[in-house]
Amino acid sequence: MANKNLNSAKVAKKDEFYTQMPDIERELQHYWEHFRGKTILCNCDDPYESNFFKYFALRFNQLGLKKLICTCYNGSPVQGNELVFRFAPYDDEPEQKIAHKLVITEVPDANGDGAVDLSDVRYLLENDKNVLSTLQTGDFRSPECIELLKEADIVVTNPPFSLIREYIAQLIQYDKKFVILARTSMVHAYEIFPYFMEGKMWIGAGYNLSLIYKSPYDNTEDKNRKYVQAKGYNPDEYIKVPAIGWFTNLKYKRVKNGLDLVCRYNDEDYPKYVTYDAIDVDEVGKIPCDYDGIMGVPDTFIQYFDPEQFELIGAETGEFAEKLGIRPIGEEWIRKYREAGGTGHYTANMKSLVIYDRNGKPKKVFSRILIRNKHPKAL
Ligand SMILES: C[S@@+](CC[C@H](N)C(=O)[O-])C[C@H]1O[C@@H](n2cnc3c(N)ncnc32)[C@H](O)[C@@H]1O
Repeated sequence: MANKNLNSAKVAKKDEFYTQMPDIERELQHYWEHFRGKTILCNCDDPYESNFFKYFALRFNQLGLKKLICTCYNGSPVQGNELVFRFAPYDDEPEQKIAHKLVITEVPDANGDGAVDLSDVRYLLENDKNVLSTLQTGDFRSPECIELLKEADIVVTNPPFSLIREYIAQLIQYDKKFVILARTSMVHAYEIFPYFMEGKMWIGAGYNLSLIYKSPYDNTEDKNRKYVQAKGYNPDEYIKVPAIGWFTNLKYKRVKNGLDLVCRYNDEDYPKYVTYDAIDVDEVGKIPCDYDGIMGVPDTFIQYFDPEQFELIGAETGEFAEKLGIRPIGEEWIRKYREAGGTGHYTANMKSLVIYDRNGKPKKVFSRILIRNKHPKAL
C-alpha cells in the first residue's frame, strides 16, 4: 500500500480519494448523449490509476468520443494501480509522480478479440509513444493545463476537495461543461452558491452519497472509525466519506422535478428570524405552499431545487450575511440564550440567523439556504 510514500503536506490536505468504477458508471449513464463527438478532460487523474480515465478509454468507441485527455499532477503520491507504468528514472517506487498527460484519439482493438478491454488500453499506453508526454506540474491551474482545458468540451473528474472553490471557478471562467464530484457542504460557499443562483450549475443524479473511496489515509481514530470504515472493504485501503454529491451543468433527465408542497403557513410552526425578514423552515418537507416571502431552509433543499418553482436568494455564510443584510444577533437574544443554558460561542455582533422557537426558547439555526416560492398558492 502507498501510505509510506505519502508526503506530509499531502496527508495534511487530504486530497487522495480514488473513485470506484461502479460509482462513476452509476452517474455517467445519465449524460451519455452529451459525450458523442466531444473532447473529454480528466484533469486531476493519473491515467494509470484513475477509473475516470478507464471509464472513458474503455468506452471511447461506444461513446463516439473525439478525444480523451487525462492529466496527472506531480504532487500526487504513488498508488497501487492496474495499469502499471513507471517513467524510466523512477522505477523504484518514486515518492511522487512525474506530471504527465495522456491524449487519446482512438482506442483500437489491439488484441483483435472483437472488444476493447483493459488489455487494449494497456497496449495503447505501452506502445503508442505519441499519446504520453510529461508536463511541468500537472496543476490544473498551470498554463499548460489551462491550454488543455480550453481544448476540452466536457471535464469529468473528482477534483481535490481542498481546492474545490478554485476548481469550479476555473471551469465557469472557461465556460466548460462538467460532471464532477464534491462534498455537498461546498454548496454553501460564498464563491459557489451564486453559480446555483445564476443557473450555472446544479446537482447531478447522485447526491448526498456516502462514497467508498480507495484512499491511503488511515483514519484509525476510534471516534471516526464507525463513520469511515466500509463494511466488506479492507480498512487499510478504503475509506467511507459521507455527504458527497455529483455536480454538473449538463442537462439530464431528473427523476423528479420540484417539491410537492403540502403544508400551510402559520406563525407558530414557522418562526420569523430575529435578525432577518424571513421565516425558518426546519425541514424541506415542511416548506409551506402559501408563503410569499423569504424562507430559510436546510441546505439539503438544493437537491430538490427547481428554478421554475423557487428563487434562490442566498446562503447563510459570513459574506452572504453582509450582502443580504442579516442583522447582528444583539444583546437581548444572547442574554436569553445564556439564561436558557446555551453554551454556543455566539456574540451579540455576529450576523447570523437566530429565532425564538414555539416555546420562546432562543435557538441558532444552521446551514440555511434562503429561498422564495415563485408561485405561492393556498392548498
Ligand atoms: C480526490 S482525488 C481524485 C483522484 C481521481 N480523480 C479519482 O477520482 O480517482 C484528487 C486528486 O487531485 C490531485 N491534485 C491535488 N492538487 C491538484 C492540483 N493542483 N492539480 C491537479 N491535481 C491535483 C490529488 O493529488 C488527487 O490525486
